Parts: sequence; structure tokens; C-alpha cells
Amino acid sequence: MTELPHHRPHRIDVPALDRQIDCREDETLFAAARRAGLRIVGACGGRGHCGSCIVRVTEGRVHREGEGAHRKWLRACCIQPRSDLTLEVAPRSLAPIVRADVRTGGEAAPLPLDPSLTAVELTLPPATLQDLASDADRLRRVLAERAEPIEPAAIDWAASAALPGVLRQHGWQVQARLRQAQAGGPLTVASVARPGAPLLGLAVDLGTTNAAAFLVDLASGRRLASLGLENPQVAWGADLISRINHAIKEPDTAEALRRAAVGAIQSLAHDLTRAVGAAVTDIADAVVCGNTAMQHLLAGWPVAQLGRAPFVAAALEAVDVAADRLGLALGPGAALHLAPSIGGFVGGDHVTALLATEAIWQAPGVTLVMDIGTNTEISLVHDGRILSASCPSGPALEGGHIGSGMRAAEGAIERVEVVDDALRLQVIGGGVPVGLCGSGVLDALAAFVGAGWIDARGRIVAGRHPSIAEVDGVRAITLAEETEERHRLIPAVRFSQHDVRAVQLAKSAIRTGVKLLCAEAGLDESQIHRFVIAGAFGAYIRVESARAIGLLPPLPPAPDGTSRFQQVGNAAGLGVQQMLSSRERRARAAQIARQARYVELSTRSDFQKSFLQHIGFGS
Ligand code: FES
Repeated sequence: MTELPHHRPHRIDVPALDRQIDCREDETLFAAARRAGLRIVGACGGRGHCGSCIVRVTEGRVHREGEGAHRKWLRACCIQPRSDLTLEVAPRSLAPIVRADVRTGGEAAPLPLDPSLTAVELTLPPATLQDLASDADRLRRVLAERAEPIEPAAIDWAASAALPGVLRQHGWQVQARLRQAQAGGPLTVASVARPGAPLLGLAVDLGTTNAAAFLVDLASGRRLASLGLENPQVAWGADLISRINHAIKEPDTAEALRRAAVGAIQSLAHDLTRAVGAAVTDIADAVVCGNTAMQHLLAGWPVAQLGRAPFVAAALEAVDVAADRLGLALGPGAALHLAPSIGGFVGGDHVTALLATEAIWQAPGVTLVMDIGTNTEISLVHDGRILSASCPSGPALEGGHIGSGMRAAEGAIERVEVVDDALRLQVIGGGVPVGLCGSGVLDALAAFVGAGWIDARGRIVAGRHPSIAEVDGVRAITLAEETEERHRLIPAVRFSQHDVRAVQLAKSAIRTGVKLLCAEAGLDESQIHRFVIAGAFGAYIRVESARAIGLLPPLPPAPDGTSRFQQVGNAAGLGVQQMLSSRERRARAAQIARQARYVELSTRSDFQKSFLQHIGFGS
């Protein structure tokens, strides 16, 4: 059969990554890269808006849709091959392994140990012609004869299926894994494993942009390893609404989104177990938290009702499901617990953040807990009440949707100052700057506003500094010129007028959320005693910069002179680990979710006014 010309694949060589992929003439390089597992950053999901996917074609011909012929750096999602190509991916456009930060002030503290799954090592009497009991009955008998007898209510299907093989392969020795959801409640034999097998648990914080996972030894409560990666669902858009809209319009996409999330968890499980010399099949229990939309997409639940007012979830309570039912290949009989949600988009990841910071917000006074991310969740705790809301802050604060934005990885500018009208940059790893990460974005904005390079309305002031110029018709401040390093070309790092606007929208959404949640409780934001900033991004921002641009309120120091702001790192990550290692913490998470009241802020009559009030600088 003759192949149509536009279906003819071309060979795309990416020498720096030692990768070759195929790309058809009717698909973009970005789509082909995604298909082949070559991770190019794509904050807008390949829609040509964000500029985060830039590449340089060093050999070959391309068709460029919406890209000027003069441009050297091209958006991979806007070009299609017309011959075999050699490609260079801009360093900031390579999706790196992300930090799975667990800094929470309690990171050194051991996890509480009271897991729903425990293991007992057993030796069973071999079957003989004189003893014809089934393997399951043989197991029951040995459990009942222990010094502390165990009488399981059931032997689960996975255990019965594996038992004959394990017993005969290991000389009638076996590890029985017992599941008991509540102390004193019914107990089942959930699965069996080879004698001495590690009993591992996987805790996952499935964020809109990144997924972080933690491997825990359920026998000792010891954290073994942690790892993060970009959520592959960003291929369908960086924000939740884009993904939900995709899922509504095309039913196949909902399934593709589900599979992408499952694939991310599977790959984290694989890499984490390999790092500690174990196998994925040693994972016997898992807990996942995410915002409501992430959890719905993972569970395969409909999301249409979440994306339209009044934004109602299919279910808010915690859900237990067999991991293999979701398509996750963990240990036989492994269960997956989805954390309870609060309402709207405030999901299990905020419940786990509240769980991990409970010691702070249980203190008398008013505490605000904020988890900054692509979707920012806020809870106000006052007088025994928890009011929770979410703000669609978008990916700008994490370096996404920012022209030169990148993750907090080597080469990212993380600190920006203007001293005597000159720029001072601090780069992660100390090398050549290749992009701006989230903390650098906030610093840059605060520094440029402070220096008068950006005015109070957010306009970059022409002629104010030699680094300000029009680039491709858009005014921008150049932080670093294009450079060549070790034979690779590094594009210029710029902060454009579009970037300023993206951050203005994000910071105004968040500040409006804080203000209106306080108003809902009959408080003013100046009455906040403790302002807890959670989330991996929140751990690295400079509070002064966030205050200077009006993202955070100008709270005075506490009476003892200490700051009211506390940066606690990935609290959701710590909370989800606690839920994995402790039944009491799971029960407490359910209580917190029930106690919290979800508030829909976007329908308040003062939302628009407050949003516009905070869009400028200095408020
Ligand atoms: S992914 Fe190409 S411009 Fe956004």
C-alpha cells in the first residue's frame, strides 16, 4: 500500500539527549516528542501560547505555523517536519525530574506507625494424604494457633490465588499480609508474599503540574525514598479547566487523562522501588491525594459537573479501590486509598496539607493555611471552624506560562535584585542562566516594580533601562542574553509584558481568595495570626518579594517579633505519608474534611471588585 505523503514519518535526531524519534508531516514536533516519551515542557499543552517548548532546528526543513521565518528558536508545538531533522531543545524546555520536597518542619520526625496493613511470617504444615485441608484452611489454622490468635474474616481473592504457588516454592513458608481498616474492626488476609518480602507503601501527591511520590517501609514507618515528575496530563493543558474541557468534549480524552495519571504513578512506583533494590510488587498499599479534579480523573469519574457552576464533586469522602482496578500494577491485592476532599476543587491534597500542619492551626487565634500551586487552596481556621476555598492561580507562579519560565532546576534564575540600577541574578547551580523559575519570577517582578522598570499598573516602562526593548513586538526586560556554552546555544532569558500580566492575574486571584475568605469569616486579613505557606513552590519564594507585589498581605510581625509567615514545604506530601502509615491519621483526615466548609468565592458579588483592586502593585 502506498503511504500518503503527509503520513510519511521523518527521523528526528536529538543528539544532546541521544534520542531519535519519528514524526509524521501532519503532526508537530511537540506531539511526536510526547508520543515517544521525550519530555519537552509544554505549559499550554501544545496550543502555541506559552513559548515553553522551544527548540532549534540545526539541520533539515520544517513547516512553521505562526512562527516568523526569521526566528531561530521555534515553538515545537508550531512546527512540522518536511525532512529528517536534527533538533536542539532549549535547556529550559527539557522537562527535568522535579523536586519531591518534603520539608515540613517535621520532616525529621518519624511517621506515626499504625498501618492498615501488617505482615506476619508463617510456616505451614505441608499438605499430605493424611491432611487434605485446603491451603487457605491450613493458613487459617496456623493463624489461629499463634500466641496471639488471628481469626481473619476472609481470605481475599488475591491471597487465595497466590497461596499455593508461594507455599510450594518456599518450603511452606509464607508472609501473610493482613488488612484491618480500623483497630478492632474486621481483618482479612489481603495477600501473601514470599517469606521476608519487604512490606512497602506508596504515598502520592498528584499535583496539577507535578506528581511527588514517597516510598515507605510499612513495617518500620521509615521513609525509604522520594521522587517527583511532571504530571503528564500537562499535555492536555497546564490548568484544570483545560483538562476538564478536553475530557468533556472527547470521552476518549478522559480515559487518556486517566491513563496518563496512572502511568505517572506507575513510573514513580517503578523508579522508587528500583532505587531501594525492591520490586513494584512489594508495594502492598497506596494512598493518593490530589485536588478534586485530579482525583476524579484518576478514578475515572465524570468531571463535567466539576467544571461548571456549582462545581459539584461526584463524591467527597475517601475511597478505597483495588489498585489493579485502576490499571496500576503494584503488589497482588494492593489497595489504593483516595484521600477525602472538601468541595469544589479543594481536594485530598489540601486535606493532607491541613493534616500535616494541624499542630500549627490548632493553636489559639486565626491561622490561614495556603497551598500555592497551579490551583491554590486556602483554609482559614478560626474558633474551631475551617473555611476552605480555591483560586485558579494558573502555572505562572511555578514558572509555567512564562516565556522564559522553567522548573526550579539547574540553570534557573531563582533570585533577582536590582542594585544601583543594575541586575543581580542568582542561578541554581551557579552556571549560565537558562530560564526563570517561580521564585525568580516573583523576585524579578518585585525588583522591577521596586526599581520603577515596571509601573504600578504593571506596564514595563520603555526607555527606563537599557535592558528594556521590544522583542517580536512585545516589550520585555532581558535578564540574560543568548549565549553559547559547551557547544550548546542557550536562548536569552527575558521577562515580557505578557509574563507580567500572567503573574498579575495569579497574584490577584490568590490575594482576592485570602481577602474574601477572611470576609466570609467576618474577619479582616490583618487579623491573621499565623500565615502558613505550604507547597513545594511556597517553600522557595521570598516572602518579602511576595509581599512587595501584593501576593501576600502586609502582615506586621507577631508581638514577639517573629514573622507571621511560616513556609512549611510540601505539607500535602507529609500528610499523605501519614495517611499511609497510620489508620488514626486516615480517620483524622476524614474528620478534617467533614469539619471544613467549602466556600465558592467566584460567585460572591465583591469578587470582581477585589480582583481588580489587587491586579496592580503596592496593594
Ligand atoms: S507548549 Fe508550545 S507554546 Fe505552549
